[in-house]
Amino acid sequence: MKAEVAGRVRFDRIRYAQCWEDPELNRLALRIGADDHVLSIASGGDNSFAHLLDGAASVTAIDLNPSQIALCELKKAALRRLDYADLLAFLGVRPSKRRTALYQQLRSELPSSARDYFDANSELIDVGVVHTGKFERYFHHFRTKFLPFVQSRRTIEKMAACMTLEEQSELYHREWNNVRWRALFRLFFGEFMLGRLGRDPQFFKYVAVDQVGNHFFGRAEYAFTHFLVQENFYILYIFFGNYRHRRVLPPYLLEENVLRLRERLERIEFRLVSVEAFLASKGHEPISAINFSDIFEYISEESMAAIFRSIAEHARPGCRIAYWNLLVPRQCPASVADRFERDDALGAELHARDRSFVYSRYVVETLKEP
Ligand SMILES: C[S@@+](CC[C@H](N)C(=O)[O-])C[C@H]1O[C@@H](n2cnc3c(N)ncnc32)[C@H](O)[C@@H]1O
Repeated sequence: MKAEVAGRVRFDRIRYAQCWEDPELNRLALRIGADDHVLSIASGGDNSFAHLLDGAASVTAIDLNPSQIALCELKKAALRRLDYADLLAFLGVRPSKRRTALYQQLRSELPSSARDYFDANSELIDVGVVHTGKFERYFHHFRTKFLPFVQSRRTIEKMAACMTLEEQSELYHREWNNVRWRALFRLFFGEFMLGRLGRDPQFFKYVAVDQVGNHFFGRAEYAFTHFLVQENFYILYIFFGNYRHRRVLPPYLLEENVLRLRERLERIEFRLVSVEAFLASKGHEPISAINFSDIFEYISEESMAAIFRSIAEHARPGCRIAYWNLLVPRQCPASVADRFERDDALGAELHARDRSFVYSRYVVETLKEP
């Protein structure tokens, strides 16, 4: 089975250097334990490493973009070989002039495809790889070319210093949500700009939402009034171009987790393969939990149904499945719905807690016994 999206979109550069999906939702929905063989969309790797932290027996992290796989292999080698301070410095979380030297320590650990990729793109190492996706560059434009015209540095710092949600909501309504913010935000996060600078115009093929900018505006408002900025590593990264606090990091970068991950790295495998091809292939343990990121955004209902038929055929009964909807409503297609059970209450409860806040829905489904 060929991946539908592969024919339409170029996958020859890093698009996501980080995962912009909250791993806490997957942790609560997938309830991964020592018995689980997990299939995960690799993307930036962060959330696949989080499945290891949850104690999975194995994690197969797949992507059809070779640059994403190279990036994940590099993060894996860095987790294995570097001490904590060097790990943060190398990835770009802390300032460093030694990244090229640190890369030399990791090169021999890398599969040849990843080594060739970073040898040929050494500027990505210099910058710090967590900043190098097309999506992270979009946020760089937001922070440097948009935000300064809309909010003063003082207001941004005030927002990031709020200690309670009441204080933050009050600041948002009184000061932040001005005319400029409302107009320019919708423009910057509208389909035209986001499609060209942040994602890909083709990613909008199935989008039903009329006003993409309005959707993101509403979600941003939700974030400001429901999540403390100072505790949210997504918002802090967007505002300041990096993670700000030692304790406010994606789980795979927290110091105590790095030590645990290092002992488990042999249980994660990154593979350049589409979901469609992987599910149809043999020779792997029956999968018992799946993190699909939001891949169904880009493909038709028929292609999605084919993927769910493969799951019904090959996965372990009871297999739990989780994914996000961004702008395209997607859930288990009607033609295979008799094999899957959806937990809408759990999906809605977790969506309300989604620190990555831009999504419209989180879907949790289970493969029934045959
Ligand atoms: C789905 S994207 C994340 C998108 C992001 N949340 C957004 O909406 O812009 C994450 C990763 O999925 C990969 N991907 C998309 N469709 C795939 C498929 N059918 N098989 C394997 N990987 C896929 C992409 O290459 C990308 O690295």
